[in-house]
Amino acid sequence: MRIILLGPPGAGKGTQAQFISKEFDIPQISTGDMLRAAIKEGSELGKQAEGIMNAGGLVSDELIINLVKERISKPDCANGCILDGFPRTIPQAQALADADVAIDHVVEISVPDDEIVKRLSGRRQHPGSGRVYHVDHNPPKQDGVDDVTGEALIQREDDKESTIRERLATYHQQTSALVGFYQDKAKEGENAPKYDKFDGTQAIDEVKNQVLSALRS
Ligand code: AP5
Ligand code: ZN
Repeated sequence: MRIILLGPPGAGKGTQAQFISKEFDIPQISTGDMLRAAIKEGSELGKQAEGIMNAGGLVSDELIINLVKERISKPDCANGCILDGFPRTIPQAQALADADVAIDHVVEISVPDDEIVKRLSGRRQHPGSGRVYHVDHNPPKQDGVDDVTGEALIQREDDKESTIRERLATYHQQTSALVGFYQDKAKEGENAPKYDKFDGTQAIDEVKNQVLSALRS
């Protein structure tokens, strides 16, 4: 099963991807996590991406498309994958379609802008695995420490309020058009991807139950 998670920054894509990955035993492919890993490594890709990410913009379509194509051709994606944060522009979605990468389900998670700013300031992440927590809504068992590895959690560079606002503006300008793109595709008939929209302001478990039940059906 191949799934696209669509939604603004902080909607809960990464949070729900972790549940879906466990339930269906398919990997989460987060382009954001891949880029952050590249920055940490100091690779050429990381150098090109860092300034853009910290300013709340988008890395070039060409770089991202190549990165994703390479990743989804790996053996662990044989039974499917969860695309978290990709595609994010019409050209990226078109590149998937042109490469005949069939999508089974598009999951949109919707959250209003003002809620997102509040939410992202409380996010903490384990940099090694990408696991996400929230100081109030999904706290780790021990303050500031990852549940699985016991390593320290960090706050993301782009979770400053001014950058969050830029990321939201970028979402509305360049990514929200994908809602119409995939809603139209879903009407194309038998092999078309299903499209479902979820209210991401509900509690994490409630969103999880609704998403998993839609994916099972
Ligand atoms: P990326 O890492 O994808 O960031 P994003 O889309 O801005 O999304 P986030 O990771 O911030 O949010 P999320 O929806 O995953 O929410 P989460 O589950 O963490 O991309 C970063 C940057 O990389 C981009 O800005 C861009 O520069 C670049 N990039 C990436 N992909 C690209 C592409 N395809 N093309 C070009 N550039 C690209 O949840 C957020 C917080 O809320 C957590 O603390 C969580 O615990 C909490 N939470 C989650 N759900 C709930 C709930 N229901 N109730 C209360 N709290 C909740
Ligand atoms: Zn994420």
